[in-house]
Amino acid sequence: MKVILLGTAAGGGFPQWNCACALCARCHRGELPARSQECVAVSGNGRDWWLLNASPDIRTQLLAAPALAPGPGLRETPVRGVLLTDAEVDHTLGLTIMRGGTGLTVHAAPPVRAALTADLPLRGLLDRYAPWDWQDSTAPGGFELAGGLTVTAHTVSAKAPKYVGGPDPDAPWVSAYRIEDAATGGALVYAPCLATWPDGFDDLLASASCALLDGTFFSADELGTAVRSPDAGQPLMGHLPVAGPGGSLAALARHPGLRRIYTHLNNTNPLLDPSSSACAAARQAGVEVLPDGSEIIL
Ligand code: MLT
Ligand code: MN
Ligand code: ZN
Repeated sequence: MKVILLGTAAGGGFPQWNCACALCARCHRGELPARSQECVAVSGNGRDWWLLNASPDIRTQLLAAPALAPGPGLRETPVRGVLLTDAEVDHTLGLTIMRGGTGLTVHAAPPVRAALTADLPLRGLLDRYAPWDWQDSTAPGGFELAGGLTVTAHTVSAKAPKYVGGPDPDAPWVSAYRIEDAATGGALVYAPCLATWPDGFDDLLASASCALLDGTFFSADELGTAVRSPDAGQPLMGHLPVAGPGGSLAALARHPGLRRIYTHLNNTNPLLDPSSSACAAARQAGVEVLPDGSEIIL
């Protein structure tokens, strides 16, 4: 299985358009690499490609990845569809860029499909450009993707997007995916949105060869200290921090044999700076932070 990290920043990207924090300022000065919004492409055969989320940056992300170039037919693309982990704006708006693409399949959990029908009504909009196949990613038994990949979805949190009014607080809003290449046995766990360390998640990681995980915030008080965000003091908007006794880095220490990579980095996150003590701590723990465009073979 080939995995391309098309984008590795949280919503807003890095730098964020309206942010002048120290990290964004250094990125503007060219001192830190910019990152586009979080999105991944996977393929079992190098010909059929599936996107994991569809970021608003999808156009430039696809153009930057030669494997995803259109052809050989005039309107042919190797992109077969999209697996959504959630209904967040930064994971779904890219679908509108792909409007009119024929024969695409979107896999998503029921509350995500409902939100994209009612609250952010992309589904009806998109189907008027070209009818897409909208599948329930949580159907029992998992599903297969063209190119030799098998997928299971795992509910990891009930974090609903801010734009949904009165969301069901118990609904399976956020999924992780386990994607396995039947030919190589390589398996990726993709979980860019973790509110907590979910029950059973250690077992899921133990069944994988690589994990691409929520690294949105390094520390629990980051929004309060890096920028005076209106969300400061909130429980990190549903993202488990990397550091601290209950953070993901401590949990990942239980999986030393697993390739572990952080993604969905917020513009306030010191992991964006390779010379930071945060990055040194991640490196020390064997957990990677990779640039946009990185490729992984599993
Ligand atoms: C998130 O990951 O928490 C959301 O994408 C936040 C946002 O709307 O940008
Ligand atoms: Mn996000
Ligand atoms: Zn910033």
